[in-house]
Amino acid sequence: MNILVNYSGDYLQLLTPELENKLQAIHLGIHTKSAEGADYLGWAEWPGSISPAFLQDIKETAERIRSTSDVLVVIGIGGSYLGSKAVIEALSTPFQNSNDLEVIFAGHLVSGEYLKQLMAYLDNKEVTLNIISKSGTTTEPAIAFRFLQQYMEKRYGNQAASRILVTTDEEKGALRTLAIEKGYRRYVIPGNIGGRYSVFTAVGLLPIAAAGHDIEKLINGAREAEKEFGVFDTNSNPAIQYAVIRNYLYDAGYPVEIMATFDEKLIYVQEWLKQLFGESEGKDGKGIFPTSVLYSTDLHSLGQYIQDGKRMLFESFLMVEKPAGDLTVFEAENDGDELNYLSGLTLHEFNLACHEATKTAHLAGGVPQISLTFEQLDEQHLGHLLYFYMMACAYSAYLLDINPFDQPGVEDYKSNIFKILNKPGYILL
Ligand code: PA5
Repeated sequence: MNILVNYSGDYLQLLTPELENKLQAIHLGIHTKSAEGADYLGWAEWPGSISPAFLQDIKETAERIRSTSDVLVVIGIGGSYLGSKAVIEALSTPFQNSNDLEVIFAGHLVSGEYLKQLMAYLDNKEVTLNIISKSGTTTEPAIAFRFLQQYMEKRYGNQAASRILVTTDEEKGALRTLAIEKGYRRYVIPGNIGGRYSVFTAVGLLPIAAAGHDIEKLINGAREAEKEFGVFDTNSNPAIQYAVIRNYLYDAGYPVEIMATFDEKLIYVQEWLKQLFGESEGKDGKGIFPTSVLYSTDLHSLGQYIQDGKRMLFESFLMVEKPAGDLTVFEAENDGDELNYLSGLTLHEFNLACHEATKTAHLAGGVPQISLTFEQLDEQHLGHLLYFYMMACAYSAYLLDINPFDQPGVEDYKSNIFKILNKPGYILL
């Protein structure tokens, strides 16, 4: 399985001897756990270390949820929801009236209206809750959980506890204490894996399995990537290639990366990416600002700015080689819409032509281009792809001399809100 990296410039020219040395040091630092932030490098060898018993346990719990519930409500924010949301959306079949279990997310925003409408929607359905928080103290999901826990207790009485699952740290946090007190089933987020790198732990696997997807294949894809990217080769390792190119562009005066896709199912992969790269790299006054577009939709809105606005952007396409479904433009008897010139063309081929046209136009407009292509949207390839991005992100941050695994900036707003709302122990100065 391969991820192809295509760059509008000359990749090999970027590989100076100094850069090769730095990359080799980064590679060693990641794999010998000696790099900065090493305490949070557990994700790198995690897929390969997952035991069959762990996967079996998740699958059995997911099966139980599926057989007793119509809806699984997943409460979490940031890394505690985006990974599973990304995979579930990428594998979804839209417009289907199915009796399959529905996964709904909460706690990623604070809205009384959202929670009221959600609880009204749940009223005539069987429900399971999975609250996910590594720290076990994040306010937004905790607020959602307070309401939804009460809802479950009113509806299910002393059976509520068997319908509430908690995914949190093994040793600390208010959520862990609460789970023990109430006797909720607990899943552990390993201490050496941070939120945005946790998609292959119970954080991602339980909701993904409950949605009916094959987590064994997902993990197999990640394991394959773990093996592939464990080899240091600047010519063939796509995680290194992508990191090198985007960092070269950053140094060359392009601090904004536009992640582009033609596939609506990848919108939440883009959201996951924005968190992964934004939170990992944006520190110490440095870092590429990640943003995203969906084409052709955004060619008719942001496309104008990308082509012609302030020059600070580079664009990275995420392309799927083989679409799951397609249509071919047919010859119409009366060519009233003047589209017969397209007859015989598949819609995927249209998008490939659009990709070519957009790349050429944006490049001519001063926007350097990267295209990342992977084979198809299924569990195996997604596992490979998400691991690829995590590894590329680690290389990228280390190339900028940044610790990819902390998020000091996120803490600032949190302590401000505690002060504004008079949380005990916080004083507004
Ligand atoms: O990547 C991270 O660590 C963060 O984005 C967290 O996932 C996010 O802040 C949620 O934290 P928690 O899982 O502790 O509730």
